[in-house]
Amino acid sequence: MLHFASDNYAPVHPEVMAAIGAANDGAAVSYGADPVSARLQERATEVFGEHARIFPVLNGTGANVISLMAVAPRWGGVIASDVAHVHTDENGAPERVGGLKILAIPSVAGRIGPDAVDRYAGDIGDVHRAQPAVLSLTQVTELGTVYSVADLKLLADTAHAAGLRVHVDGSRLANAAATLGVGLRDLTTDVGVDIVSLGAAKNGGMLGEAVVVLSDGGGPGTAAGPAEAVPYLRKATMQLASKTRFLSAQLLALLGEPGAPTSGTGDNAPLWLRNAARSNLMAARLRAGIEAAGLTGSGGSGGPDLSLSKGDQRGAIRFTCRTEANAVFATLPRAAANRARAHVRFYDWAPGETADRVEVRWMCSWDTTEADVDELVRTVAAAL
Ligand SMILES: Cc1ncc(COP(=O)(O)O)c(C=O)c1O
Repeated sequence: MLHFASDNYAPVHPEVMAAIGAANDGAAVSYGADPVSARLQERATEVFGEHARIFPVLNGTGANVISLMAVAPRWGGVIASDVAHVHTDENGAPERVGGLKILAIPSVAGRIGPDAVDRYAGDIGDVHRAQPAVLSLTQVTELGTVYSVADLKLLADTAHAAGLRVHVDGSRLANAAATLGVGLRDLTTDVGVDIVSLGAAKNGGMLGEAVVVLSDGGGPGTAAGPAEAVPYLRKATMQLASKTRFLSAQLLALLGEPGAPTSGTGDNAPLWLRNAARSNLMAARLRAGIEAAGLTGSGGSGGPDLSLSKGDQRGAIRFTCRTEANAVFATLPRAAANRARAHVRFYDWAPGETADRVEVRWMCSWDTTEADVDELVRTVAAAL
């Protein structure tokens, strides 16, 4: 069986496994006061800037809930896209656990623009409305698209001007950085992002992610700065692991040890970048392979920048978004998708255009091979 369902299906990268093994060396102080976690904190300042504070947590939903709670008051609202993971895929955790209303805004190919802030800015000061406190952006977006550095700067500036804080759900931040050829800091600290949910599991980790506090100004109405609040929130939301050293070891393996280069090419690149670049490359190969096999009609599939590209509408496969990171979204005849499922796992993303068609997501991982991609193309061609 081929696996293109999720980068969460991928195994743990051997270097991460080795790092977990190396951390398994006798007793160490629990709850994050261990030497591995201290090295991770040192490394975080190298990667994100001197004021960065990193807090390993158990999963991405937890990272999002803690991050949002750390920068929003109890009466706060979180502006996010209508396809944002925090809105659609966390069983309402930011609302149930965090007590924060998500203020959803229609997206274009997963992205939102500065008008998202304008839409809700008028609610500030109105006691009848959840108070917009945070702009939450997902990078890479849930539809596999990427915000440019300039987009992020504009969004962050707009949010800050309105008195909001900026959160990035960086479950796939590594993939975005690989796409844009920039560092993790360029996409966060340097554009004014206040707090990040940093992904690891989809990037070759075993389990666990991190909250990274970048600016310590509390959000409107918050008593403590985020770096002071996160340790308490992490415990209160049941995201504090007693053996945090093993979470820290994974993050260190991905980010690199203190003193290691924060960028590079080929084998000299940090593991986060090698893994992300690989999965992005495989998605590009998949898209190109589908086009080369003639499954999209005449092969047109580019589309204007930042817009929802429908590609060529005559072919059996119609791309629904640009492929900017490690996922390919497309519609195809439902019957063909179901036939392909005998050989490959993938998710239906949306019901699709008609009763006869379904939108699917094919997602590549750090361990996806050229052979896997080519076999998927052959499988789908045969199913069609
Ligand atoms: C965009 C995004 N954010 C966050 C998460 C983290 O979710 P989890 O709680 O499953 O680790 C995911 C996982 O699929 C995701 O795709």
